[in-house]
Amino acid sequence: YCGIVGYTGLNYQSAPILLKGLEKLEYRGYDSAGIYVPDTKDQLNQLVKEKGRVAELENLVAKSDVEGTSGIAHTRWATHGVPSVENAHPQVSADGRFYLVHNGVIENYLALKHQYLEDVPFVSDTDTEVAVQLIAKFVAEGLTTFDALRKMTSLLADNSAFGFLLMDAEDPDTLYVAKRKSPLLIGLGEDFNVVTSDAIAMLDQTHDFIELLDDEVAKITPDTVKLYDAQGKLEHREPFHIDIDASEADKGTYDYYMLKEIDEQPVVIRHLLDKYFDDAGKILLGDQLLADIQAADRLYIVAAGTSYHAGLVGARMLEQWAGLPTEVHVASEFAYDQPLLSQKPFFIFLSQSGETADSREVLQNINRAGFKSLTLTNVSNSTLWREATYALPLMAGPEIAVASTKAYVAQVTLEAILAYALSSRLDLDLEKELSRIAIEIQAIVDDKLTFKRVAEELLVNSQSAFYIGRGVDADVALEAALKLKEISYVQAEGFAAGELKHGTLALIEDGTPVITLLTQPKTAGLVRGNIAETQARGADTFTIATKSLATDGDGYVLPDVDPLLAPLLTVVPTQLLAYYTSLGRGLDVDHPRNLAKSVTVQ
Ligand code: F6R
Repeated sequence: YCGIVGYTGLNYQSAPILLKGLEKLEYRGYDSAGIYVPDTKDQLNQLVKEKGRVAELENLVAKSDVEGTSGIAHTRWATHGVPSVENAHPQVSADGRFYLVHNGVIENYLALKHQYLEDVPFVSDTDTEVAVQLIAKFVAEGLTTFDALRKMTSLLADNSAFGFLLMDAEDPDTLYVAKRKSPLLIGLGEDFNVVTSDAIAMLDQTHDFIELLDDEVAKITPDTVKLYDAQGKLEHREPFHIDIDASEADKGTYDYYMLKEIDEQPVVIRHLLDKYFDDAGKILLGDQLLADIQAADRLYIVAAGTSYHAGLVGARMLEQWAGLPTEVHVASEFAYDQPLLSQKPFFIFLSQSGETADSREVLQNINRAGFKSLTLTNVSNSTLWREATYALPLMAGPEIAVASTKAYVAQVTLEAILAYALSSRLDLDLEKELSRIAIEIQAIVDDKLTFKRVAEELLVNSQSAFYIGRGVDADVALEAALKLKEISYVQAEGFAAGELKHGTLALIEDGTPVITLLTQPKTAGLVRGNIAETQARGADTFTIATKSLATDGDGYVLPDVDPLLAPLLTVVPTQLLAYYTSLGRGLDVDHPRNLAKSVTVQ
């Protein structure tokens, strides 16, 4: 969730590099930001922190003429302590010598504060300040900085999550890092090295990264990287190369990443077709993976948020196309209240970021139990990628907007390819159908002004809204409502249309927007009845229907597709409605309040 960057080099000023990195990380968390740059020439410790956006920090840094070729920086998403300058990172030890940025949560920080730091003055409410004060204390007692960092991490409760990046003002070229659960990478360069919580932030500097594993610690200078395991043994790990173009993570001419990412969806499907179908139309997923799934007696899809909604659709494909019993679970529930498992379960994790802490908790549990798993993720080499038995990339390119769009389409597409590979369907040419869907999505995004108009008429001034549908349309209704809620703050709910009359209908009054997704032939008549029930109570209805089910009064007509693939089309208008509602309400589409892109807290 928060973002970390660090730089140590010989030739370049660090502040512009760190601030540019923070801009790229801002989507992860952004209630405050800070930077620390030691100035070796004038022996100055330059610490600048600001509440709010990175741009505000940049203004302050520009005014203070920060100098130096190393430094650390952070964007914060508050967990302990309100957003404020005091609580922003870097946190500093009382003696002014140690500067620490931190991602994650230290569960036992209050106990540690009472046990070790009773007489130390504190300026913030953060768990991070406890960590940096402990380091200063252990150094004062005679440990080296490196050993003090290790000792401090050894005192943290097992379920704590941390990515720490530390500087010692008396050794201004060295970066110290330690990590558990929160991701951290070391990036390698000529005469410099970097640290980052997300490769995207440092792609302008390097494409070669070393992944830190849990409980490892490293010491980094401009020309050395020393990596140690939990026992303090020196380790060697080959770097991996990240093959994405830094410009892929740029907004280009778009005002917001979200619209760029919605527009990219046809290309995402084409990337998946290129990757997973060979020239003869054969599916390339790996025979062993398919055999392992087929050997299972039940599949368990585990995910959070939008990825969970993609899982709901995937489960229907796996059951109805491939005949494999499939359950879908919210990771944060499954992790702490595990349902009774079948004899031979197989797990599928869906995660855009590959870092969601709740999903990782489940993966660690099932790894301990010896079960096999597959992760579908957009970030190769992410934690869920590495720790699952199998992993397949979503090929969506960097998704920056907090509200997930193209990753959902990629997940549903890849689930379709998987379910199809496991089925013996002869009546569907999936490759052809998905290519056609990519073209149809292009037509929807080309028609975006229609949805701008509908959003302005129906949603921008509404307090609440409902999405309804049956079957996969109910699954998309959940995703549509989440998207609207998270970026426009309109109270929105998605419902299985038949459930309305069991309670929710009481909320429908004159002018309540009810948006219906209607793509499933077997229930279309029933859904028409549900729409009429809301209209009879005064609802302002807008219906998105496939061609053969559409009637004259419908708001938008989509082409007919295989019924379980309809979500790939219906989700797009709902993304655009959310986008234009947020815009129409004057909100910052890419940065909804209280939210972060990658949720690495449980
Ligand atoms: C909503 C959204 C979130 C994520 C959820 C899981 O637009 O993006 O609901 O889907 O936090 O994240 P990942 O997919 O990275 O595991």
